[in-house]
Amino acid sequence: MAYTLAQFVADLDRITRAESDATVITERVVPLLAELVKQPDAIPAEYRRSPDGQRGRYMLHRAPQFNVTAVIWRPGDRAGAHNHETWGVIGVIDNEIEETRYRITQMGGERAQLEKLGVTRHGPGAISRLTPGDEIHAMHNPTQRDTVEIHVYGRDLAGLKRRTWSDDGTEKPLVSPKYLNC
Ligand SMILES: [Fe+2]
Repeated sequence: MAYTLAQFVADLDRITRAESDATVITERVVPLLAELVKQPDAIPAEYRRSPDGQRGRYMLHRAPQFNVTAVIWRPGDRAGAHNHETWGVIGVIDNEIEETRYRITQMGGERAQLEKLGVTRHGPGAISRLTPGDEIHAMHNPTQRDTVEIHVYGRDLAGLKRRTWSDDGTEKPLVSPKYLNC
């Protein structure tokens, strides 16, 4: 029988009640999200499209210990290096996304050194994990069509104080407005 969004949410609820360690939580969530993203129909079609003129971002479920969003990256959409201040598990439903992971070394003040750890092109069904100490990345849709993803986080990113870095290491505060949350 097909794994549904409701079952996924129930599993997340159970896991986040039983565990508080981000590494353990994400280890358990990875195979479940992998199962969910294999079935695009598990997500209603209106949440797999970007609205006219903007990146798509829809809250599918919001709970105190986790939230599930659908994110649609249009061709050329990107997010520069940023952190999350929480754990995350990201799965690709359709098309591909390019993810660059970074290690940040603070140089004092608002300067940091960005070390590129790797660039991964995630295709349909691929899962990416954000855990404490390795949760800084940049995202880019280098293709000519929309990329549909499911993002699961341990905190609501909207309004959360985070950080972003430009290529030269200049740090800026990042507070996600509702529709740029990733
Ligand atoms: Fe992100």
